[in-house]
Amino acid sequence: MLVTPKIRSNICLNAHPAGCAQEVRRQIEYVKAKKAARAGTASDTCVESDVSLKSESSPRFVLVLGCSTGYGLASRIAAAFEYGADTIGVSFEKEGTETRGGTPGFYNNMAFDKEAKAAGVNSITINGDAYSHEIKKRVIEEIKKLGKKVDLVIYSLASPVRTDPDTQELYKSVIKPIGRTYEGKCLDIIAEKLTEAKAEPASEEEIATTVKVMGGADWKLWIDALTDSGCLATGCTTLAYSYIGPELSHAIYRDGTIGEAKKDLEKTARELDLDLQKKIMGHAYVSVNKGLVTRSSAVIPVISLYLACLFKVMKANGTHEGCIEQMERLFAEKLFAGGEVPLDDEKRIRMDDLELTDEVQKATVANMNAVTEENMAEYCDLAGYKHDFLSANGFDVDGVDYGLEVERFDMV
Ligand SMILES: NC(=O)c1ccc[n+]([C@@H]2O[C@H](COP(=O)([O-])OP(=O)(O)OC[C@H]3O[C@@H](n4cnc5c(N)ncnc54)[C@H](O)[C@@H]3O)[C@@H](O)[C@H]2O)c1
Repeated sequence: MLVTPKIRSNICLNAHPAGCAQEVRRQIEYVKAKKAARAGTASDTCVESDVSLKSESSPRFVLVLGCSTGYGLASRIAAAFEYGADTIGVSFEKEGTETRGGTPGFYNNMAFDKEAKAAGVNSITINGDAYSHEIKKRVIEEIKKLGKKVDLVIYSLASPVRTDPDTQELYKSVIKPIGRTYEGKCLDIIAEKLTEAKAEPASEEEIATTVKVMGGADWKLWIDALTDSGCLATGCTTLAYSYIGPELSHAIYRDGTIGEAKKDLEKTARELDLDLQKKIMGHAYVSVNKGLVTRSSAVIPVISLYLACLFKVMKANGTHEGCIEQMERLFAEKLFAGGEVPLDDEKRIRMDDLELTDEVQKATVANMNAVTEENMAEYCDLAGYKHDFLSANGFDVDGVDYGLEVERFDMV
């Protein structure tokens, strides 16, 4: 059958298998080209710190939790195809069957495994609930079977729910402000309309449950389980991802429920860092990444309009990055550049540096203030935002013939 996007309330409900696979290949090609370019630059200019030129600390065996889409997928691609690292990936995706479509992450994982095999790098992909004890046990068994220790653990889970593995209680996260109502403009990218979003303040219970889902508790469970079972190499690094965003979104994001969860994640990083230093001379960091259109961020009020205005500004000044550009730069210029990892005052890696410059923020806010439904194309990167939204589900991807029937949904 022909597969076209099914979109409801800024969420794309289906995926195109061939488009997802092509998008994975595009990201792989990007990191391979960067590797070559960095090697070229380094040999021309004798920049010794370039990782692609085999820093001692280059990742060799990487565990990616949340490996199937967004930042996790990009991290896995950078590790495997720029550094040749073996990877274990964990994600929670709906599998495609012969007749029914799966989620984009399912097709991304299949494509990743196929490309990794062709390139001769080992990959193991596990589909299941990363919050459960069962999946932690399974990953540890896989690591032990391989007889190697993990030197990088990426924690890139984004989920609306988490079942506590001990009590089986289901916690739900909410995106709400704290202490006051939030009202802001949103972009409906498909209708090209501006809508008003209103979010009532969160209850104490909603704040607590959001922290349970998106805070640092599960990351700590993973790192403790991996350390206790002797699966982490000496000097292993673990990273989790956070977002801060612009002033104008703080009421709904950084000072809201998700922000509380992120502050908990950042606190967990500082605690894990001390612990890992003591136990295995390792490190734990949070990397604050750039705001991007991924399956998670598309549903946060005001962020959609902000991102569309931001992309317009950053593309015009040549500093725009997507997931793969961010993760490639994170690895090559911050994590594995050979020296100390550069951190801010709160011990975080800042990949949102280019997004949060005064110049970019002022221009973005000016765009947001000026935009109306009539002049959207002038102030928003409508085409770019729409492309990112669709391509996260395998649609609107260059080189894919959408006129071809999808014969089976269980293969790419
Ligand atoms: N998207 C952004 O703009 C942005 C910016 C900065 C930081 N971040 C952070 O980066 C991280 C990843 O976000 P993303 O936007 O890439 O998300 P995403 O939705 O693209 O990916 C989430 C991943 O988590 C996996 N997952 C969800 N629940 C799971 C479960 N129970 N068990 C196993 N896997 C599960 C999914 O399968 C997927 O692989 C989050 O911490 C997010 O806050 C995102």
